[in-house]
Amino acid sequence: MQQPLRNFFQHIETFFDGPFDGALNPMRQLGSLAFFLYWIVAGSGIYIYIFFDTSVSGAYESVEWMTNQWYLAGIMRSLHRYASDAMVVVAMVHLLREFSYGRYVGARWFAWFTGVPIIWFLFFSGVSGYWLVWDMLAQYVAIGSMEWLDWLGIFGKQVANNFLSPITITDRFFTLLVFIHIFVPLFLLFIMWFHVMRLKSPRINPPKMLMISVSLALVVLSLVYPATSHDKADLSTVAINLDFDWFYLIAYPLFDAIGPGPMWAVGIGVTILVSLVPLLTRTKREPAAFVSLEKCNGCSRCASDCPYDAIEMKPRTDGLKFDIEAVVDANACVACGICVGACPVSTPFRHDEQLVTGIDLPDPSLKSLRDSVVDTMNKTRAKAGQQNAIMVFGCANGINLEKLSAEAKANNIHMGILQVPCSGMLPPSFIDFAISRGSMDGVVVMGCSENGCYHRFGQFWTEDRINQLRDPNLRTRVPRERLATIWADPTNLAKALNQVSDFNKKLSSLPAKQPSTTSGGDK
Ligand code: HEM
Ligand code: SF4
Ligand code: SF4
Repeated sequence: MQQPLRNFFQHIETFFDGPFDGALNPMRQLGSLAFFLYWIVAGSGIYIYIFFDTSVSGAYESVEWMTNQWYLAGIMRSLHRYASDAMVVVAMVHLLREFSYGRYVGARWFAWFTGVPIIWFLFFSGVSGYWLVWDMLAQYVAIGSMEWLDWLGIFGKQVANNFLSPITITDRFFTLLVFIHIFVPLFLLFIMWFHVMRLKSPRINPPKMLMISVSLALVVLSLVYPATSHDKADLSTVAINLDFDWFYLIAYPLFDAIGPGPMWAVGIGVTILVSLVPLLTRTKREPAAFVSLEKCNGCSRCASDCPYDAIEMKPRTDGLKFDIEAVVDANACVACGICVGACPVSTPFRHDEQLVTGIDLPDPSLKSLRDSVVDTMNKTRAKAGQQNAIMVFGCANGINLEKLSAEAKANNIHMGILQVPCSGMLPPSFIDFAISRGSMDGVVVMGCSENGCYHRFGQFWTEDRINQLRDPNLRTRVPRERLATIWADPTNLAKALNQVSDFNKKLSSLPAKQPSTTSGGDK
């Protein structure tokens, strides 16, 4: 189920990449979009609260007054409703997307697990809002909700009975509803913060253009199709022919059909099932990164590049002249290897047999990567003869490198491939090594599509290191025309092949490579 879903998302994302140009692709901004929608809901909510009458007799009329002021309060009311609806859609698609990409594996279970209560609080927030309008839909929702709660028997007497008589609904009770509708969304915000607290620099704000486009779309929708109410609630009649909000109220018809007990069973059952996804779909947890103190100079680069905040810089414990050292929290580490790529000591140029770096993964270790690169370069050079030999470093979550290599071979392109857990694990010195010291005519670095990095920042850090915007950076001596980066989803094999083919042609047009004269010197 996961793989077809992932293919589905990758196709949709590739489709949206066209008009939205990668960074603006809303499918890659779902979490930040949900945050943004929350702020629209909160802002419009504060505005309409100013005009809202918190009494049983006045609530409906005050909402009607707002609806009739189509140019301001009416827009705010509609914005409040449509942004809330959009938040449900965005949060659910975000859930499915994160599931399809398996972004809950290992230490990432935390974001998944804390995402589940978000759904409940989102649901409570929306439902409590519907009560406040105090129209026939509110009456239906209020009675249904109370019958649902009554089944638990925690209130002593049947609360739903309150709604059967106009006398028992008081202004005080209505004030309580308003309080709930303010308190629950505030708690929702707290859980949203909790949800992302373990991530380094979570993207909670979408790009500006996306914010503007979403806001405009919601305003236009509010003008064209303003939110309206049903007739005023009348407790002497039964609500029929209701115009439903399926985003928030979908549970109510189901409740009518199966009754409160089974409805609780469905709600709790689905919640438990979704919460346990990280356990039920358990995949092997890769061993965490480890620090070799004798090689660590306390530069902190690993800590600032780790996307999961799994490295802390602590006072030195080994008596070396540096003040601090890197310490890995194995429980938070997902073994992406990005810290290895960040460490200045991670270089294949060193001759020591063991190749110990400041921070490394048990598997694949930096040494095993260097050995594989040397081996792959030799074999590829031998096969390519006088033709171009290209070294491809690709991430484990992007294009299938074996398939790409086979397709390339069919097109007479000679590629040696080396897979790393994330493109960010590749120290830039490996590119230098392959081009300046090695026998390769060119190097390709590949990874997940733009803004779609499985490990969040691998792609950004790689680009920044190559462009000398981030340390450790790719030395100036490395001829950039012999380097290509390809960011593409696994569904984009054809596109990647085209790019490799163009790169191969470009290499053929370049003057022959000069033999390496390097023995040090940074720039
Ligand atoms: C209002 C609802 C939600 C909001 C505002 C929200 C927000 C976010 C944000 C901002 C991120 C970080 C994105 C990044 O920087 O890469 C994120 C990641 C994530 N979210 Fe949500 N989320 C919501 C609901 C959910 C739900 C319902 C689930 C699943 C049950 C979920 C599961 C995840 C997972 C697994 C990640 C990835 C964490 C990682 O990369 O390690 N989220 N979410
Ligand atoms: S491998 Fe390194 S960068 Fe990746 S999560 Fe672990 S400590 Fe952080
Ligand atoms: S990047 Fe390497 S040298 Fe710098 S703190 Fe981390 S482990 Fe130590």
